[in-house]
Amino acid sequence: MKQIKRHRVYDLLKKDSGHLINKEVNVKGWVRTRRGSKHVAFIALNDGSIIHNIQVVIDVKSFDNDDLLKNITTGSCISVNGKLVESHGKGQAVEIQAFEIELYGTADPDVYPLQKKGHTLEFLREIAHLRPRTNTFGAIFRIRHALSFAIHKYFNENGFYYLHTPIITGSDAEGAGAMFRVTTLDMRNVPMTEEGRVDYTKDFFGKETNLTVSGQLEGELGALALSNIYTFGPTFRAENSNTSRHLSEFWMIEPEMAFYDIRDNMDLAESFLKYLIRYLLEHCDDDLAFLQKMYDNELVDRLRMVIDNTFERLTYTEAVEILEQSGQSFEFPVKWGVDLQSEHERYLVEKEFNKPVILTDYPREIKAFYMKMNDDGKTVRAMDVLFPKIGEIVGGSQREENYEKLHGRISEMKIEEEDVWWYLETRKFGTAPHSGFGLGFERLMLFVTGMGNIRDVIPFPRAPQNAEF
Ligand code: 4AD
Ligand code: MG
Repeated sequence: MKQIKRHRVYDLLKKDSGHLINKEVNVKGWVRTRRGSKHVAFIALNDGSIIHNIQVVIDVKSFDNDDLLKNITTGSCISVNGKLVESHGKGQAVEIQAFEIELYGTADPDVYPLQKKGHTLEFLREIAHLRPRTNTFGAIFRIRHALSFAIHKYFNENGFYYLHTPIITGSDAEGAGAMFRVTTLDMRNVPMTEEGRVDYTKDFFGKETNLTVSGQLEGELGALALSNIYTFGPTFRAENSNTSRHLSEFWMIEPEMAFYDIRDNMDLAESFLKYLIRYLLEHCDDDLAFLQKMYDNELVDRLRMVIDNTFERLTYTEAVEILEQSGQSFEFPVKWGVDLQSEHERYLVEKEFNKPVILTDYPREIKAFYMKMNDDGKTVRAMDVLFPKIGEIVGGSQREENYEKLHGRISEMKIEEEDVWWYLETRKFGTAPHSGFGLGFERLMLFVTGMGNIRDVIPFPRAPQNAEF
């Protein structure tokens, strides 16, 4: 093949490619469809850089290699040298008149599963190794990238440092107990103590360890030195919840700020979420338009709704009153003290206020040990941000900075002091008021893509009974 500089399809279709018209270009990619006649073949080629395909036109008789042409079928991978010309066909401004093609890989039409007809999302989940090649998953993964980038950009522009918190930990940050154990002990020959317990002193770390459920506790250590930090990493929960909003492995963004009270914390969450959505509307318009057309015709309106409204702020107690007086028959009945379910959260957002809602001051019994106690002794300074279609998207709080009170909560909730002594020490040495929250990355991805199932917004989902790929 003649050596010609490769261009991405994005650059040919999107950027000002005028100067390339009638010039020789090279593109490489996967064949989406092939149609045409004995004399001319039209190939729709995609390289993942943009939702649209570039059309490659092959004048069959100018190629004397039948074998090659025969093998250019849906799913095959090719490199094309050709002339970029203005297109007279509908739906594209430019196309490539091929004069040389190299076939990198065939895809036997009898067995390649992604033929051009639409497949169900359930089927595509079973072929997660190939689904990135569909329009839908190309769009989703480009949006996932843009959103990750925007998250780092926001924090970098606002004086936050990216802190890498550990993935293997010895503590249970949420006190929820649903953790994946990390061990190198021989399962067939587990060492036991005299009291009949597993002897973790013989294990790799010499103690019990697990995959982290949250980077928060270590994040607080960072905030109490660097003032504003954030984490953005994988977190793991071994809850057996098989829902469309839960994953066993998901990514979480956790900012933590010294000298922030609960109000500053809410302001940050609101400004952050609005920034991210604005960024996507500006940078991912093609992909959002595709998802809107295919899956959710209110998608962009819903994104705008978040940007255009001030989030409604009210207490848990006020929310429970609204729910009790709503006259709705919920699957899970509401009364003061219960944890809100997504049906309750969605009622508040979608029926009562028609905009995102931030609930604060939850009963202490249903929240984690580290949250700052209110003067009423009954509620804690928690905040959950609730979004349409999703329910809880952010959970956070002002933290208990008082040593005695925190110590009291830790004993009350029977948390082993030897697991969190270092966390407690920050309240002994130069303690400071501070706050933070966690944003579930895939929950936000669900919201911005309009997809219905969280397994479709992460490349390789992990869920109960499901760790393929
Ligand atoms: O409310 P959570 O459990 O809060 C924490 O982990 C705190 N340590 C955060 C903090 O204050 N730094 O989780 C935070 C968010 C939830 O609001 C939700 O969006 C998401 O993480 N989340 C999940 N996303 C997918 N699958 C799961 N199993 C999730 N559990 C929580
Ligand atoms: Mg929560």
